[in-house]
Amino acid sequence: MRILITGGAGFIGSHLVKRLLLENHKIVVIDNFDPFYSIEDKKENIKVFKRDKNFKLFNVDITDRKKIANIFLKHKFDQVIHLAAKAGVRPSIEDPVAYFKTNIEGTLTLLEACKDIKLKNFIFISSSSVYGERPKVPFSEDDKAENPISPYGLTKLSGEKLLKIYSNLYSIPSTAIRLFTVYGPRQRPDLAIRKFIDKIYNANEIEMFGDGSTMRDYTYVDDIVDGIVKCVYQPFKFEVINLGNSSPIKLSELIKIIEKSLSKKAIIIKKPNQIGDVSRTYANIRKAKKLLNWKPNFKFEKGISMMIKWYLIKYAKKD
Ligand SMILES: NC(=O)c1ccc[n+]([C@@H]2O[C@H](COP(=O)([O-])OP(=O)(O)OC[C@H]3O[C@@H](n4cnc5c(N)ncnc54)[C@H](O)[C@@H]3O)[C@@H](O)[C@H]2O)c1
Repeated sequence: MRILITGGAGFIGSHLVKRLLLENHKIVVIDNFDPFYSIEDKKENIKVFKRDKNFKLFNVDITDRKKIANIFLKHKFDQVIHLAAKAGVRPSIEDPVAYFKTNIEGTLTLLEACKDIKLKNFIFISSSSVYGERPKVPFSEDDKAENPISPYGLTKLSGEKLLKIYSNLYSIPSTAIRLFTVYGPRQRPDLAIRKFIDKIYNANEIEMFGDGSTMRDYTYVDDIVDGIVKCVYQPFKFEVINLGNSSPIKLSELIKIIEKSLSKKAIIIKKPNQIGDVSRTYANIRKAKKLLNWKPNFKFEKGISMMIKWYLIKYAKKD
C-alpha cells in the first residue's frame, strides 16, 4: 500500500516507518523537522531509510495547504497515519497558539486533502491527555473525554472530533488511537524517562515533581507500533481506541527501576506538582483486545533495560 506517515522523522514515527517498510509498503513521510528538539536526532532517525526505494521524504509543514495538496495529488495514498504534532503537555502551556496551529489546523489541512480521494484509512494519533484528570480508572474510550487540562490535550481532542466529522461527511474510514506515555529507543528528550536515564547516568540532579505518587501507564514503543500496524490492516468506519500498558508505574518506582538498571543512585530534587500534569494515566485496553486482538508484550523492566541498552550504545562515554 502507499502510506503517508506524517511526523515520520520523530520518535514513534521513525519506528513505524521501519516496520512498514519491512512489510513492503511504499512510505511517504512528511515532517518539517520542528526544532522542539534536536533536528540532528530526527535526521539520524530516518537516515537509514533514505537508501530504500520505497521511501520518500518531504520536508514540509502540515499547515502548508498548497504543498500538502500537491503531495496528495502526486502520490495517491491508500492510507494516512498522522503523527505530526507539537507534542508535550508542559510546553503547550507556554505556547498554546503554536500547538493549536500545528495540531488542529495541521490535522484539518490533511483531512481536507483526503476528502475527495477515496482514502482507505485515516489513522490519527491521539493521546491519553484527552481524558484529563479523572477520578475513575482505568480510562475507557466510553468515558466522556471532555476534560483535558492542558492546551495539548484539547488540541488532540479537537483532532479526534474533526476526524469524526470528516469520517461522517466524506465516508473516510478512520481510527483515533489514544497513546499512553510511550518510551523506548529514540524517545523524545523532553520526556521523564529519557531525562532521568541521562541525568542519573551522568550523576546530575533530577527534578521530581510532587511526592512521587503520580502514575503513568508507560508503554513500550514496539507494542505501540504493533497496535498501529494492526489498525493499518483493519480499517474501521470510525473508532477511538486506547493503546496502553494498562499497568501504571509510580514516579518514585520509575526512579528506583532506572537506578537499579543503571546501578547508579539518583540525586533527587523535590519540586511542587506541575500545572497541566494529571495525577495518573491508566488505559483500559479491552477495546484494543477485542477489535484488534492487541495486547502489550513488554513488561516495564524489560522495556527499560532495552531503552538503557540503546542509550548506553549511543551516549555512554568511552573512557
Ligand atoms: N511519545 C508519547 O508518549 C506520546 C503519547 C501520546 C501521544 N503521542 C503523539 O504521538 C505522535 C508522535 O509523538 P512523538 O513522541 O514521536 O513526538 P516527536 O516530536 O518525536 O514526533 C513528532 C514529529 O512531528 C513533526 N512535526 C511537528 N510539527 C510539524 C509540522 N507542523 N509539520 C510537519 N511535521 C511536524 C516533528 O518534527 C516530529 O518529527 C504525536 O502526535 C504525539 O502527540 C505521543
